[in-house]
Amino acid sequence: MKTRVLTGITTTGTPHLGNYAGAIRPAITASKAADVESFYFLADYHSLIKCDDPARIQQSRLEVAATWLAGGLDTQRATFYSQSDIPEIPELTWLLSCIAAKGLLNRAHAYKAAVDQNTAAGEDPDAGITMGLYSYPVLMAADILLFNANRVPVGRDQIQHVEMARDIGQRFNHLFGQGQDFFVMPEAVIEEDVATLPGLDGRKMSKSYNNTIPLFSSAKELKTAIAGIVTDSKLPGEAKDADNSHLFTLYQAFASREQSAQMRADLLDGLAWGEAKQRLFEQLNAELSEPRERYHQLISKPHELEEILQAGAAKARKIATPFMAQLRDAVGLRSFS
Ligand code: TYM
Repeated sequence: MKTRVLTGITTTGTPHLGNYAGAIRPAITASKAADVESFYFLADYHSLIKCDDPARIQQSRLEVAATWLAGGLDTQRATFYSQSDIPEIPELTWLLSCIAAKGLLNRAHAYKAAVDQNTAAGEDPDAGITMGLYSYPVLMAADILLFNANRVPVGRDQIQHVEMARDIGQRFNHLFGQGQDFFVMPEAVIEEDVATLPGLDGRKMSKSYNNTIPLFSSAKELKTAIAGIVTDSKLPGEAKDADNSHLFTLYQAFASREQSAQMRADLLDGLAWGEAKQRLFEQLNAELSEPRERYHQLISKPHELEEILQAGAAKARKIATPFMAQLRDAVGLRSFS
């Protein structure tokens, strides 16, 4: 039996270096192994939770799709699709919602952060919080469990969601399995060096913080973005501590071990921040310039991207449809025939 690897990207914005290093790059590498079956998708249902601008979502769907392909995903090997092309996902979300404990969802970081923010502002704790935000982890559990994924490559911010998928899946197995497990227990796969890639200001790189470095911006834009990385005020010649520099963390995510060791030593020896930024630019540009060209070709052909996604959805549903029939049966519903 092959190992199943699955991950998704929410289609609310332009993919950034954090998405690439934390999820896309490790997922593409994993998909090349002979004993792996991979499932990668656009989490476009998830995007509706955060965004009510249809044009933005449509544009982001294309950008995220083109990013995966430009990054080297082979769609003959991997199953590559849009979440919203798989009707079994919202169907399973409902079955799981009926057994997921409310107390579990109360603990989800995104929901708790929204409540805390409201409380600090002296507002009703649930002001502006939708059921979509609240149920976000159940939809994500359905994404993962429907394909019985063994491994889920993600950044650190998603670990809790993968753990919740395990909890919910385990409960379903317990309630309806009758000695047979329907769902395997997924494991989050985290690359320590890039688990939380910092943004320009040192906080986690995130669309919500507006501190991202877009993945396929032009070389000139990339250089300008890198110039905006915040550093301490140490002058050229003064010793600098790599461990306290998010510029170094970014460099490390894209450089070899030897290059990182060299940069660390040079910073200690007084390398100027301007020079360190130039090295980061060169490193990133070397890795990204070819995929950047492919990306611009792909994004100019939206119909072709949609066709690839639809072919991927048909492939995914060959697995999802019969499995969903089993799950319907298990809970006492009639299967569609
Ligand atoms: P999303 O779209 O916020 O992010 C996509 C992936 O990128 C990772 N990531 C980062 N990694 C390192 N450093 C960063 N600064 C950084 N920012 C983002 C995220 O951890 C994620 O792996 N809910 C998910 C999408 C999703 C999903 C799933 C993932 C939906 N269903 C099923 C895995 C399995 C999300 O919003 O990711």
